[in-house]
Amino acid sequence: MTTELPDDHAILRIMARPNDVNVAGDIFGGWMMSQCDIAGGIVASRKAGGRVVTVAVKDFRFLAPVLVSDIVSIYAEDIRIGTTSVTIAIDVFVERRQDGKEQIIKVATAEIVYVHIDAQRQPTAIVTTD
Ligand SMILES: CC(C)(COP(=O)(O)OP(=O)(O)OC[C@H]1O[C@@H](n2cnc3c(N)ncnc32)[C@H](O)[C@@H]1OP(=O)(O)O)[C@@H](O)C(=O)NCCC(=O)NCCS
Repeated sequence: MTTELPDDHAILRIMARPNDVNVAGDIFGGWMMSQCDIAGGIVASRKAGGRVVTVAVKDFRFLAPVLVSDIVSIYAEDIRIGTTSVTIAIDVFVERRQDGKEQIIKVATAEIVYVHIDAQRQPTAIVTTD
């Protein structure tokens, strides 16, 4: 169990809500994947300097369940820049208050690939300045 959030700013912070649960009462995995795709897309778009689309989810691991009222923080950073693609590494943590105690738990990791596209939706080169 992790005890501190990373020093970087989270790209998204959101509270898990009752309408996001599966039949077992835990937060639905698809909800988590959707939030991670949004967070990764923000970072990829900044890096590419324009519009991006998701082309592949290379890896997605659910490490621990997310519960209703957990505060979910999604961290995303670029780990590979190709000709037209950006690969984003995602880490997800929750802050949970239970029995009067605050816990911070790493709940998921992912690697998502985005492609920079032009107005005709065709892959277009990424020109990085750093
Ligand atoms: C993304 C899209 C524009 C790519 O078009 P394409 O003609 O297949 O493009 P390419 O084969 O030239 O690949 C483009 C880049 O994506 C990468 N890529 C393609 N498939 C990949 C995969 N499965 N895993 C990792 N990278 C992949 C390629 O390596 C290439 O990267 P590079 O230029 O940095 O070397 C097209 O597939 C598309 O529009 N897909 C739908 C995207 C979408 O709507 N996503 C949301 C779904 S709801």
